[in-house]
Amino acid sequence: MKGLILSGGKGTRLRPLTHTAAKQLVPVANKPILFYVIENLVRAGIRDLGVIISPETGDSIQEAVGDGSRWGVAITYLLQDKPAGLAHAVSTARPFLQEAPFVMYLGDNLISNSITKFLQDFQQESADAMVLLKEVDNPSQFGIAEVGPDGRLVRLVEKPKEPPTNLALVGVYFFTPAIHEAISGLKPSWRGELEITDAIQRLLEGGRRVTWRTLDGWWLDTGKKDDLLTANTHVLDEWSRRDIQGEVDGDSTVSGRVSLGAGSRVINSTIRGPAVIGEHCVIRDSFIGPFTSIGDHSRVEASVIEHSVLLAEVTISHVDRLEDSLLGRQARVARHHRHRCLQLLLGDDAVVEF
Ligand code: TTP
Repeated sequence: MKGLILSGGKGTRLRPLTHTAAKQLVPVANKPILFYVIENLVRAGIRDLGVIISPETGDSIQEAVGDGSRWGVAITYLLQDKPAGLAHAVSTARPFLQEAPFVMYLGDNLISNSITKFLQDFQQESADAMVLLKEVDNPSQFGIAEVGPDGRLVRLVEKPKEPPTNLALVGVYFFTPAIHEAISGLKPSWRGELEITDAIQRLLEGGRRVTWRTLDGWWLDTGKKDDLLTANTHVLDEWSRRDIQGEVDGDSTVSGRVSLGAGSRVINSTIRGPAVIGEHCVIRDSFIGPFTSIGDHSRVEASVIEHSVLLAEVTISHVDRLEDSLLGRQARVARHHRHRCLQLLLGDDAVVEF
């Protein structure tokens, strides 16, 4: 069994963050989404991983992930020359996959469930493919599955205007090599991509067995800002623990599950978990509330922050209250002491709301 992680694509929906960085590397609770993906595959016993990368962000992905030795696995990078669809990514990976069955996992999807049980079911049932489904409120934005009265998968439709059900396809798929033949006959869809839903539909039409399971935990397709903040909340809520490596002075209070990285200093401040603060940060005269992640080398002074994600090297100074915010690397928000006005340094397409 091999693992195929899709980490190419364009990432238009998380701009401006993804103008400069791969969306799979955007951190949730200070850990790149892609690392959660790798860890889920590794925990399920998969040791041979292929990672699809794009020419634009491939180098940064390789630099962040490395050769896999930190997880004790082998990682092979597979360059997809253009983001021509999920099925196109699978055909790009064919020399790596050869005739092995595999789990395909979208590199920007975060799920709370371990995939171990699903993988065991797939292997025991000896189906040709297995998909994971999850009920959603807005089915016209997803690939949707139609299930017959006998519980069999009947049809898959990509982003339907009139959705037959609200069962969305989660970004984790289990395939046998039968998928390659289904992909080889595909034509690009109206959006110009080779769709994996069309390939699975061809399996169904060819009489192949495609089974499904529903996901009972949460699933976050971290495509947009609010999804990312929700992901950050879930992960901090469920997976964070107390781990104080940095220094906390006598005038500060750090309560609950707070992780404070090495070399960081908390001075005359209150931090209430769950929260994670990276390495070499300074938090001075401030309040950091629950569900906040602050990246390495950031500085917060005389400010209140809650329910926000700050990437690395961010500066926040004299801001009365910052909440529900996502700030990219090296962003700076400061209120000028005397003029009581905001001073901002924002990247392209930045949004400021207050
Ligand atoms: P999508 O979110 O479907 O596509 P995208 O990355 O182009 O995103 P956006 O809509 O924000 O522009 O991609 C799902 C995952 O699959 C994501 O991790 C990127 C990856 N992917 C590839 O590796 N190759 C591809 O050809 C496509 C379309 C996506």
